[in-house]
Amino acid sequence: MTAPLLQAAAGATPTRRPVWFMRQAGRSLPEYRKVREGIPMLDSCFMPELLAEITLQPVRRHDVDAAILFSDIVVPLKAAGVDLDIVAGRGPVVAHPIRTAQDVANLPILEHEVEEVAQGIRIINEELTDAQTLIGFAGAPFTLASYLVEGGPSRNHETTKAMMHAEPALWHSLMERLTPTIIAFLRTQIEAGVEAMQLFDSWAGFLTERDYREHVLPYSQQIFAEVGNMGSAPVPRIHFGVATGELLPAMAEAGPDVVGVDWRTPLDTAARRIAQATGPKVLQGNLDPALLFAGEKVLAQEIARICEEADRAIEQGHALGHIFNLGHGVIPSTDPDAITRAVELIHQH
Ligand code: CP3
Repeated sequence: MTAPLLQAAAGATPTRRPVWFMRQAGRSLPEYRKVREGIPMLDSCFMPELLAEITLQPVRRHDVDAAILFSDIVVPLKAAGVDLDIVAGRGPVVAHPIRTAQDVANLPILEHEVEEVAQGIRIINEELTDAQTLIGFAGAPFTLASYLVEGGPSRNHETTKAMMHAEPALWHSLMERLTPTIIAFLRTQIEAGVEAMQLFDSWAGFLTERDYREHVLPYSQQIFAEVGNMGSAPVPRIHFGVATGELLPAMAEAGPDVVGVDWRTPLDTAARRIAQATGPKVLQGNLDPALLFAGEKVLAQEIARICEEADRAIEQGHALGHIFNLGHGVIPSTDPDAITRAVELIHQH
C-alpha cells in the first residue's frame, strides 16, 4: 500500500487526507518531557534510540500519517564542528558569530555521513507501517545563515540583512559554504530511509521578494535539484517558511513538489499564486496553531474551512493535492488531546 502522504504528494487521490504537524514531537507531550529529562536538546539529537523514540511518540499517540525526524536545523552545523548550543526557551546560540571573510573561510563544511542520525532513521523505520511516512528535514541556507550571523535567535535579522546588502560578495560566499552542508545532511537522511523531506526556510518571510530572489533562491534551488537526484527513487520535496504569503511564487520556483503555507494565507489564494508562477503544486497547511486552544467547535469549523479551500483549489486546477498541517509548529503548551481530536476531524474530510 502506498502511504496517504506519498499519494497526496504525488498528486494522486489519497485513501485518506494525510495530516502531520510541525513540532508534533516535543514539549506538548508528557512522554517527551519524561524521556528528555536531564538530557540537553542537542545531545538528544545524536542519540539514535532516543531520537527514534521521540520521533515515534506523536505517531503512536495521534495517528498522524507521518513522523517528522526529531532533530534540529543546527544539527548538521554541530556535526560539521561549529561551536553552538540550543538554549532552552531561546533557541540556537552560536559561540562565534560569522561576520567577516575569515569567519566564512573558517566555517566547517559537513563532509561525512551523520551516523547517529542514520542509525536513528533505521530504528524509526522498523516501527512505522507502510501507511506511515518518515519525513526528514533541513534548515534552508537563509534561516541557518541568520542564526550564524546574528549569533542566535533574532527579532529583526538586522545584522544578516546588513551583510546581504552592504557586503553581497561576503553574503554569497557564506551561502555557498552552507549549501553543501545542508545537502550532505539530507543525503544522510535519504540514504538511511526517509521517504520525504522538508526544507524549512522559517525566517524567509522577513525578506522582500526581491531580496529573496537575489540572495536566497539560487541556493534553495540548488538543494532541491540535488535532492531530486538522491536515493533509488526521488523523494517528495516540501518547502515551508513563516509569513511567506508574498514569497509563495518564488518559493515554488525553488523547485519543491509541495509548498507549505503558513496560517496567514488562505490555501486557495496561495494555490492561485503558486499556479501562476510554476503551474499547480501540492499544498501543505495551514491551521493556525493557536486555534488548538479554541475548543472543539472552532477547531471543527476551521478544519472544514481549510479542507474546502484546498478542495476548491484542486477542483479549479490550481493545486494537485493537499497535505493537512498547521500553519507553523505546535505551541509547547498545547493540550495533546486537542491535537489527537484535530487528527480525527481531519481524517473525516
Ligand atoms: O516535531 C518536529 O517538528 C521535529 C523536531 C524539530 C525541532 N526543531 C525540535 C526542537 C524541528 C523540525 C525543528 C526545526 C527548527 N529548529 C526550526 C524550523 C522549524 C520552525 O519552527 O520554523 C527552527 C527555526 C529551529 C531552531 C530552534 N530550535 C528554535 C527556534 C528552538 C526553540 C527554542 C525553545 O526552547 O523554545 C529550537 C529548540 C527545539 N528544537 C526544541 C525542539 C523540540 C525545544 C527544545 C527542548 O525541547 O528542550
